[in-house]
Amino acid sequence: MSDKKQLPIFIRFFIKLFQIILYISIQIIFIPFAIIGIIDAIYKEMRKSKKLGVSFSAIKALQYRWFMHYFNTRPDPISVAFTKNFPCESHFGMWSIMGPLIISQRLFGFTTRLGKLVEPGEETAGSTAGIRVLMFDKVMEKYVDEMEQIVLPGAGFDLMTLQFTKGKKVKVFELDQVNTLNVKVETLKKAGIEHDWITYIPVDYANESWVEKLLGAGFDKTKKTLFLWQSVSLYLEADIVKENLREMADLCVDGSIIAQDFYSKVFSSGEYSKAAKNFLSIIEKMGESSKFGIDMSDDPKAAVDSFLTECGLKMTKYIQFGEKLDIEPFYCIVEAEKL
Ligand SMILES: C[S@@+](CC[C@H](N)C(=O)[O-])C[C@H]1O[C@@H](n2cnc3c(N)ncnc32)[C@H](O)[C@@H]1O
Repeated sequence: MSDKKQLPIFIRFFIKLFQIILYISIQIIFIPFAIIGIIDAIYKEMRKSKKLGVSFSAIKALQYRWFMHYFNTRPDPISVAFTKNFPCESHFGMWSIMGPLIISQRLFGFTTRLGKLVEPGEETAGSTAGIRVLMFDKVMEKYVDEMEQIVLPGAGFDLMTLQFTKGKKVKVFELDQVNTLNVKVETLKKAGIEHDWITYIPVDYANESWVEKLLGAGFDKTKKTLFLWQSVSLYLEADIVKENLREMADLCVDGSIIAQDFYSKVFSSGEYSKAAKNFLSIIEKMGESSKFGIDMSDDPKAAVDSFLTECGLKMTKYIQFGEKLDIEPFYCIVEAEKL
């Protein structure tokens, strides 16, 4: 139990009250900056990204990594350096909006949901974004030294490979749609972030063969590979998800792993909660609709297992978010091998 929890309730109440008063004072000072910052952030995230044809869901994922860095839940200086040079996000805007919370947390321990991580099994839809990033980090840490190749299909603005594979012998391939990848590479160059050991492959799964492109870029079918498919299936049609997984399975040799996440059908349809519905409808307005989810209403583990079997895969690890809570299953992270 933390020291704070051992204090009598009225002292805890006064500490919280004092923190809120301090926080509000800082917030007031930030108001003029926040007004300019919000305008800059909305312009870059919504207008500029549309103009450049960049994935909005990938921008949101990058934004969360920025939060995690400043709220001390996952150090990520590469994502911060990237954001400062990224045309579709405003580093100043995010600071002007989040600054009071960041400062309050750092100066006097005033924490909000963004500054806390829940215990494994106690995740809710609202606390999933941060935990999922940490879990995929763990997958990467576990396999990076034993794999010969790593592939991120739908890498977006995830920069984890830069952090985990620098100086290692592993070959790394990242795939995503052409505009998103072009902006990613241009931003890396502008930010002076080294990335020359990574092969970036532009592809649209819906209209072209990513396998051909991957093989053409030097992927070796005889080598042990880790596929990391993080938060992509939600945005693809069911038949494309299946086809992609079958193709990944075909590229796996003994010891290769496919790590990925799945949302439930109820979540992807927007019926899970009002917050989820609002989030998905903003993403949809920006051009990416959520299309795929697995029916997790009965036995979620069995449902995911059977879906993977259909794709020629054997599930080797299953983590269900919110498992310890009395809530409807909505998300899981799984590892699989070729059947
Ligand atoms: C939510 S983002 C996740 C990005 C990254 N994996 C992460 O966790 O930060 C979804 C990604 O899937 C990519 N994507 C969606 N549909 C795609 C398609 N048809 N072909 C290629 N990439 C696609 C988007 O461009 C976007 O980068």
